Amino acid sequence: MVAEIIDGKAFAATVRGHVADHVARLKEEHGITPGLAVVLVGEDPASQVYVRSKGKQTVEVGMNSYEHKLSADTPQKDLLDLIDKLNNDSAVHGILVQLPLPRHMNEDLVINAIDPAKDVDGFHISNVGLLGTGQKSMVPCTPLGCLMMLRDHHGSLSGKDAVVIGRSNIVGKPMAQLLLGDSCTVTIAHSRTKDLPDVVRRADIVVAAVGRPEMVQGDWIKEGATVIDVGINRIERDGKNVLVGDVHYESAAAVAGAITPVPGGVGPMTIACLLANTLTACCRANGLPEPEGLTA
Ligand code: GUN
Repeated sequence: MVAEIIDGKAFAATVRGHVADHVARLKEEHGITPGLAVVLVGEDPASQVYVRSKGKQTVEVGMNSYEHKLSADTPQKDLLDLIDKLNNDSAVHGILVQLPLPRHMNEDLVINAIDPAKDVDGFHISNVGLLGTGQKSMVPCTPLGCLMMLRDHHGSLSGKDAVVIGRSNIVGKPMAQLLLGDSCTVTIAHSRTKDLPDVVRRADIVVAAVGRPEMVQGDWIKEGATVIDVGINRIERDGKNVLVGDVHYESAAAVAGAITPVPGGVGPMTIACLLANTLTACCRANGLPEPEGLTA
């Protein structure tokens, strides 16, 4: 079997197109422009790249982008004061504090200071609890992107065996909750799981989010399974820097029914879902119907 390649780049462009259409209607019919505030503390180069990309794509879909850059030695109190200001700013519908934060800051405390209704990352403890109990919440962007691709590929996910490899708060745990919400039978596997290849071999859907380059091998994959590779690992190969996922692509693609490549799979969906979440937050804040197909 040669796997169908799930093109995340194209899918993300479609999602951004839906968001842009909805934003245009909001402006025309209600005079409302969704606004996303992104806060960056410090000069981490990777974070700077992400934040720039978020700002650019926010403007491209017709939303307002507010960037706040604070120096690495900013006192935590100043960051909390800024969050309070953004919480109370009616032009701001989404707030994202780029992680990681400098070591003198308490990430949990900072994230939980964001108004849960504006928490477009879905990291606030209230949103985690709402998702865990199947209630309306803000959903973390990367798992939401994976869910959208899976729904698009399969239609219904009901009754499928899903194995999520990785138990992070940002991807693994919310991914498992979302798959459970779509009536999958879900296993969360991790670095201590016994007989991991055998566990993965049972899965109709594999979501790999462990952060280990090319760990999941083709002979772990059930014939025809769908493989979603969340990993983005920079490794050196033949003297060159290359990006690889958590899945060994060539061997897995020879067995799987469908697979996301790295790059060009899950990655582009994350920012697209951030924009979708900002739009959803804006609609909820204004008592308007939520966009269809852009939420869990
Ligand atoms: N740093 C790396 N990924 C993310 C993300 O999805 N959200 C935030 N806030 N910070 C990040």
